[in-house]
Amino acid sequence: MRVMKKESIFLTCLALGFVVLLSPAAKTQSARDLKTSEEQIRKEMLQITKELGTTCTECHNVNDFKSAAKPSFGIAAKHMKLVAAMKANGFDGKNGPEANCYMCHRAELKPPAAMPK
Ligand code: HEC
Ligand code: HEC
Repeated sequence: MRVMKKESIFLTCLALGFVVLLSPAAKTQSARDLKTSEEQIRKEMLQITKELGTTCTECHNVNDFKSAAKPSFGIAAKHMKLVAAMKANGFDGKNGPEANCYMCHRAELKPPAAMPK
């Protein structure tokens, strides 16, 4: 019994050793992907902030960037989908303008959208 136990502890250690030995490559890869997507998000966020002439806190609780509590967060999420749909339907910048927030917002949170009288 004792011998069996020792043996299985040894095998467990061996297996763990392999996991530790093999994991750094995988870890580096996913860390890099994560960093890329974080940089991508930060870039996009800076861009929409400029296009709306606002700041991060208009839409975010800076202690929890995932929070959807602020009304502007929800509206922005819808308008992001709108911009994505426009890009997918011709406004892709290839033969004309590329859709973005600025095309309507003109660096203002509330874009001047009323029809002239
Ligand atoms: C006009 C509203 C708006 C502004 C301004 C804005 N954001 Fe965002 N942000 C959003 C929305 C909406 C999402 C969610 C996007 C999604 O789920 O696809 C988001 C997502 C994020 C996320 C990812 C959160 C997660 O899910 O992990 C981060 C980080 C972030 N924003 C940071 C910022 C920073 C930093 C600024 C200022 C430079 C900023 N945002 C400005 C609306 C905004
Ligand atoms: C096709 C035009 C159009 C585009 C493109 C557009 N918006 Fe809007 N957005 C509007 C209009 C119009 C309003 C005002 C709606 C209202 O007052 O009910 C508005 C309102 C908003 C508001 C609420 C402002 C407030 O306080 O009332 C937010 C936040 C917003 N947009 C975010 C965005 C973001 C982020 C993008 C780019 C991803 C974007 N919008 C792209 C037309 C647009």
